[in-house]
Amino acid sequence: MKKISLRTIQSYKDKQEKFSCLALYDAPMARMAERCEIPLILVGDSLGMTVLGFDSTVPVTMDHMLYHIEAVRRGNDLSLIVGDLPFMSYATTDLAVKNATAVMQAGAHLVKLEGGSWLCDSVRRLTDSGIPVCAHLGLTPQSVNKFGGFRVQGRDEQDAKKILEDAVALEEHGAALLVIECVPAALAKQISERLSIPVIGIGAGGDCDGQILVINDIIGLTESPPKFAKNFLAEVKDIPAALTLYASQVREGNFPTIEHTFS
Ligand code: KIV
Repeated sequence: MKKISLRTIQSYKDKQEKFSCLALYDAPMARMAERCEIPLILVGDSLGMTVLGFDSTVPVTMDHMLYHIEAVRRGNDLSLIVGDLPFMSYATTDLAVKNATAVMQAGAHLVKLEGGSWLCDSVRRLTDSGIPVCAHLGLTPQSVNKFGGFRVQGRDEQDAKKILEDAVALEEHGAALLVIECVPAALAKQISERLSIPVIGIGAGGDCDGQILVINDIIGLTESPPKFAKNFLAEVKDIPAALTLYASQVREGNFPTIEHTFS
């Protein structure tokens, strides 16, 4: 795999080539993802649950994020690395600039933040300052307490309309990528068709431009995996084969299927 840039990821969308992304947290997995030609990596604040044993991402701090972003960066020279901004670290635009700077200096190539149009000013400011932004809509886990649980979003007409409007507004303010999590497949399809930037789905059906899964779910480490996840290791002999299978099934449109999808 050649070194992946944001332009490479945009070109996948422009050429309608589906691509895979992995949320992972350490150097050996990052190295393996590079060997298996996974173009996009997210050092997600899901590490609060998958690595640190918290029951949500709310307790995750900047120190946790920086430690894991540095490790992933040391393990991977070729994939494009997105670093998550944790809960409340971007509550104001000034905080967003300060903490996004630290995430970039730890080795990320862009930052991800969760939320809708209230983030537009921060997205514009970060983008204008040279920090590309991945937005995140739908089930935004940092808002689990507001949602009353990890629930599918955008099922009623009004919610769906708001998510679509937020997506358009974030793109207009400079967002370079969008993650859309746990929404009905029809809504994710509409957003992917409407936006020019790549839309990466998780629990959002097969019509997004790319897919993301958490490494723990792919290799069978999760005790009660979510409906949208798949244990690829169950079908092959080792972890590199599981990552390669994931990437090829996404590329060929064979993952996700209806059983991983919400309506
Ligand atoms: O933190 C994370 O891993 C994420 C993905 C699940 C999209 O936000």
